[in-house]
Amino acid sequence: MTPVQYLKKTEKKRLSELFTFLSFPSVSAKSEHKKDLVACAQWLTDHLKGIGFKTRLVKTKGHPLVYAEYKAGKNLPTIMYYGHYDVQPPEPMELWKSNPFKAEIRGGAIYARGACDDKGQTFAHIKGLEAVLKTEGKLPVNVKMLIEGEEESHSVNLPAFIRKEKKKLDADIVVVSDTAQFSKDLPAVTFGLRGIAVAELFVYGPTRDVHSGTFGGAIANPINILCQMVGQLHDKNGHITIPGFYSGVKPVSKWLKSQYKKLPNREKAFLKELNIPAMHGEKGFSTYERMWDRPTLDCNGIKGGYQGEGAKTIIPSFASCKITMRLVPGQDPNDICNKLEKHLKKLAPKSVRIKVDKGGGAKGVVVPADGPWLEAAGRAIEKGFGKKPVFMKEGGSIPIVVDFKEVLGLDTLLIGFGQNDDNIHSPNERFRVTDFERGCRTATYLPFELASVKG
Ligand code: BES
Ligand code: MN
Ligand code: MN
Repeated sequence: MTPVQYLKKTEKKRLSELFTFLSFPSVSAKSEHKKDLVACAQWLTDHLKGIGFKTRLVKTKGHPLVYAEYKAGKNLPTIMYYGHYDVQPPEPMELWKSNPFKAEIRGGAIYARGACDDKGQTFAHIKGLEAVLKTEGKLPVNVKMLIEGEEESHSVNLPAFIRKEKKKLDADIVVVSDTAQFSKDLPAVTFGLRGIAVAELFVYGPTRDVHSGTFGGAIANPINILCQMVGQLHDKNGHITIPGFYSGVKPVSKWLKSQYKKLPNREKAFLKELNIPAMHGEKGFSTYERMWDRPTLDCNGIKGGYQGEGAKTIIPSFASCKITMRLVPGQDPNDICNKLEKHLKKLAPKSVRIKVDKGGGAKGVVVPADGPWLEAAGRAIEKGFGKKPVFMKEGGSIPIVVDFKEVLGLDTLLIGFGQNDDNIHSPNERFRVTDFERGCRTATYLPFELASVKG
């Protein structure tokens, strides 16, 4: 039996195991789910042990880490697989058509929180490796597997682990499936991710909400001020106005521009899928450049004042706004947060007090856009998907990929099995069964293709 035949034979069981994995509400952001993360990590550890890996459930200061190892031989290459078992909060609940933690297949897709990001994609590798082990009796590569429970919370404790275990984590290449295909039925190898910097702005006015007739016109309204401040963070061309924000940002190379011109244009598809009248962004850059090679600043949520039914004539006592900035290589999240804070302090009028909370962050990454490892991954994808992948970048972030390079000196192969319309971080997250299957198949070919690089 070949590994792919084994996959076919075990499809039902494989799906039901994935459903179990998806049933743990492993929401890393919420402390009420602490136990669910432990249970999920324990289940995953046991599952990997059952397949034949040597496993360790690693305690951290936060949620536990699942570590698994397979030794094939000293002279063989070592592949480090990375994924995350934690998920985003499912809210808003009322928009889900089925229970986010009770997976359900509808119209050929698995619906559940984490189905695509990242339990489903991680599980595809586990099942692919299992298929090889069960049919060939061994793997052609050494495997080290790191599946963390805090990716959606900025991987706060993982860097300490990889620093501490640096020697043990020695490998040749990292494999991560936590991105997406380029488009429907067009798989991709991703060679760059943006980083992120997180902040929150608080604007304080009067100690309590006051009557807008009595005081309106005489004192500052924190919501008005906050909007003015945030409104000044971009100029009319969509450039970010924070002094020094772009220092370190390199121009988009001619080579990259020519690569992007080769990719199919997806703007029309975006307009339709998102039901928006036009694209929007920084002047002077193409859509792909704006998505992948230019830093951004976005408000993610805004609070303040009265939100209930009808009118309420107040000057609210406070307003706040969550801000994230997507970064590119050359920008440092701490430095960018400091620059934002300084700029906001300058923008604030004397009539209010403000505070800027600076949160976690991650640097952007580029991994080699060609070379033998990428070609090997390309061949595995071509076999698994029946189609040659395109090479692209992603605008999202996977914080630990930078540490793999900076601490362990390892490049990462980013091979996503999901699609842009899989509703990750949204209600009704899904993963098409065909994509799961193609991912599992790719995962059976990948170790052989990677083994041939060094061999
Ligand atoms: N899997 C995503 C990253 C991603 C999203 C890659 C879209 C490609 C396309 C990952 O789980 C994620 O959501 N990352 C966060 C990181 C943040 C919480 C530090 C992100 O990008 O917002
Ligand atoms: Mn993810
Ligand atoms: Mn995510």
